[in-house]
Amino acid sequence: MDMTERVSVLILYVALVYHVGAAKKVMPVAGPDIYKNKNLDQDKLVPGEKINNVISFGAKANGKFDCTQAFMDAWRATCHSKVQARLLVPVGTFVLSSMFFAGPCSTPEPVTIQVVGTIAATTDLSEYENNEWLLFEDVDGIKIIGGGTFDGVGKNSWKTATNCKEDPDSTCVRNPSSIYFHRIKNGIIQNVKSTNPKGFHIFVTNCANIRLRRLNLTAPEESPNTDGIHISQSIDVEVAKNTIETGDDCIAMLHGSHQVSINNVNCGPGHGISIGSLGKYEEELEVKDIRVNNVSMVGTENGVRIKTWPDRYAGNASNITFSDITMQNVKNPIVIDQEYQCSSKCKGSLVKLQDVVFSNIKGTTTSPIAVDLRCSDKFPCESIKLENIGLSLKSKPTGSRCANIKPIYEGLQNPPGCL
Ligand SMILES: *[C@@H]1O[C@H](CO)[C@@H](O)[C@H](O)[C@H]1NC(C)=O
Ligand SMILES: *[C@@H]1O[C@H](CO)[C@@H](O)[C@H](O)[C@H]1NC(C)=O
Ligand SMILES: *[C@@H]1O[C@H](CO)[C@@H](O)[C@H](O)[C@H]1NC(C)=O
Ligand SMILES: *[C@@H]1O[C@H](CO)[C@@H](O)[C@H](O)[C@H]1NC(C)=O
Repeated sequence: MDMTERVSVLILYVALVYHVGAAKKVMPVAGPDIYKNKNLDQDKLVPGEKINNVISFGAKANGKFDCTQAFMDAWRATCHSKVQARLLVPVGTFVLSSMFFAGPCSTPEPVTIQVVGTIAATTDLSEYENNEWLLFEDVDGIKIIGGGTFDGVGKNSWKTATNCKEDPDSTCVRNPSSIYFHRIKNGIIQNVKSTNPKGFHIFVTNCANIRLRRLNLTAPEESPNTDGIHISQSIDVEVAKNTIETGDDCIAMLHGSHQVSINNVNCGPGHGISIGSLGKYEEELEVKDIRVNNVSMVGTENGVRIKTWPDRYAGNASNITFSDITMQNVKNPIVIDQEYQCSSKCKGSLVKLQDVVFSNIKGTTTSPIAVDLRCSDKFPCESIKLENIGLSLKSKPTGSRCANIKPIYEGLQNPPGCL
C-alpha cells in the first residue's frame, strides 16, 4: 500500500470502529442446542462424510507458501456441500493470512474443521485490515478439532502493541485475535492448541451455545493483550478442561456475557479470570449468570476479579459465583475494583454489582491485601458473600480492604473480614 491508500484504509477503519461502537447492542438468541446430551469427545466420521483436504485445493505444507486461497476454496466446498463435510488440515505447517470462514453454510450441520498440523499466521500487519486473523462468522454448527496448532507468530507485533484495556479513549487498535467467533451458534473448539497470538487467542462475540474444551493456549508472560478466552455479548458458553498460560487475562468476560460456565481450568502465568472492565461504553449489556468452578491459578497477577470504570456509563453485573479455586503465589487473589485505571480523584462507578459469591478459595498470595473489595459510592455492592477463604502470605498475616460494601462472611476467613 502507498501512503494515500494507507490513510484511506485507516479512515475507513476508524469510521467502522465508531460505527460499531455506536450500534445498538442486542443479545443473540440461543435457539436449540444441537450438541445437548451428545458425547462430544468422540470424532466419528459420519457415513458418506466428504473430506476436503486443503492439499487437494492447492495448499502446501512447507511453512512458506501462502495457503489463503487454497483454504478459501476448501472452506467454500465444505460450507456448501450436499452431504456432511469437513475441511482437513493434515500434518505440516500451512501459512495463512487473515481469512474469513463465512457462513451461512448449506452443509448438514455441523461442519468440521479438523486441524492435525499447524496453521501459522503471516507477519505483515497491513494484511490484517479485518483486525483479526481467522474470522468465523454466521455459521450455525461448527466444530474445530484435531489436536493441531494455531500459531499466531505474534512476537514482532507485540513490540508495537498498545494496551487497549487501559486506554480510556478507546481509540487504540487491537492486534488481531487468532480465532475470532462472530455470530456463531453451536460452535465447538476442542482439543487444539493456540500459541503466540498477535492479540487474543480466542475471541467469542455475538455467539450462542459455544463450547471451548481441552484447549492448550500458550504465550509468554510478557506478551501484551494476549487474553486466552475473551467473551462478550454471548449466551451459553461452556469453558472446560483448558490450560491457559498467557500474557494477559486467562479468561475475560465483558459486557453481555450470559450463562458462562468455566470448569476445570489451569491458569498461569497471566492476569487471571476477570469480569470486565465494564462501564466504559454507552449501552453496555449486563453480565449475569456466571459460574467459575474448580480453577487452579499459579503465579498470576490477579486471581478472580471484577473491574469497572469509574464515572462513565451505567451497567449491571449479577449472579456470579467463583468456587473451589486454588491459588499459588497469586498477587491479587480476590478483587472488586470499581476504580479501574483511576489515579487520584475518582468519581463513583455507575455499574451496579450484586449477588456475587466467592466460595472455597485457598492458597498463597504475594500481597499484604489478599481480599480487595472497592465498590462504587454511587452504587454500593449488594449481597456479596465470602465463604471459606484461606489465603496466606508466607508466614506473615495478610489483610482485607473494603469500600462501599458490607460483605456477608461465612465459614473460615483468612484474611479476616473487614468488619
Ligand atoms: C501445552 O502446549 C505446550 C507447548 O506446546 C506444552 O509445552 C505443554 O506441555 C502443553 N500443556 C498441556 C497441558 O498439554
Ligand atoms: C478439578 O480440576 C482438576 C484439573 O484442573 C482435575 O484434575 C479435577 O478432576 C477437577 N475436579 C473436579 C471435581 O472436577
Ligand atoms: C444464576 O445463574 C445460574 C447459572 O447460570 C442459573 O442456573 C440460575 O438460574 C441463576 N439464578 C438466577 C436467580 O437468575
Ligand atoms: C441495571 O439494573 C437496574 C435494576 O434492575 C435497571 O433498572 C437498569 O436499567 C439496568 N441498567 C443497565 C445499564 O443494564
